[in-house]
Parts: sequence; structure tokens; C-alpha cells
Amino acid sequence: MLIRPNDIQKVANMFFNAIHEDEIEIVNALYEAVKSKDTEKADKLMEELAVDLEEHFSTEEELMREADFFGYPMHKAEHDRMRAEFKRVHERWKSNRNFAEVKRFLEDKLAPWLKLHVAQWDSVTAMHIGD
Ligand SMILES: [Fe+2]
Ligand SMILES: [Fe+2]
Repeated sequence: MLIRPNDIQKVANMFFNAIHEDEIEIVNALYEAVKSKDTEKADKLMEELAVDLEEHFSTEEELMREADFFGYPMHKAEHDRMRAEFKRVHERWKSNRNFAEVKRFLEDKLAPWLKLHVAQWDSVTAMHIGD
């Protein structure tokens, strides 16, 4: 298991928490597929993660806009950074099916980013939005 549910801070909005829990499951499943070098599963889960990340980020951004959250541009910029990074990794995966690259991305980029991002941005945003 790459990310334990307790590694990701619970925030003050139940939608955010539900989104994060779903994402942790996909990331962990992808991590297992990559470790066991299962191309078919990894392909499917990369697609799933692409859809899930976009839903995750756009849902938060919509809620922020509705609530007029002051940190919207900065929070969205953080999402955009990860959108671009994931897109790059996904494109590379589709061209080379290199398990090591995806494994490194999940371990060194996405997992630490998620922990920090939720603690730094989602927690403050959720407090502003409320439940
Ligand atoms: Fe989030
Ligand atoms: Fe966020």
C-alpha cells in the first residue's frame, strides 16, 4: 500500500474527504499493478486516475468559486501543476509502458504531493467552504 488512509488529513468538508478516499484507492491499486508489472491493469488504472484527478480538481475548484474563496488562484495553480505533470507521465506511459517511471512518479511525486496539498490547501479551503 503506497498511501494509507490516515496519511491524508481529514478536512472540514465531506465531499473533499470522499474524493480523497476514492483517489487513494485508485492510486494504491495502480501502484500494485505497476509493481506486479500488469500492463493491462496499469493501462486501465492510468485512465481511471486521469478521470479521477480531473474530477477531484474541478469539483474543488467549482466549490471554491461558489464560496468566493480568496486562495482560489493559488489553489488552482497547484492543481494545474499536477495536471500538467500527470499528463506528461500518462503520455510517456502510453508511448513506452515503462513501469519504473510510473512507480517513481507515484512514490516520489504524487503520494507526497497529495499529502502536502491536502494539508496545505484543501484543509484551509474546506474550512472556508464548510460542510
Ligand atoms: Fe483535494
Ligand atoms: Fe486541492
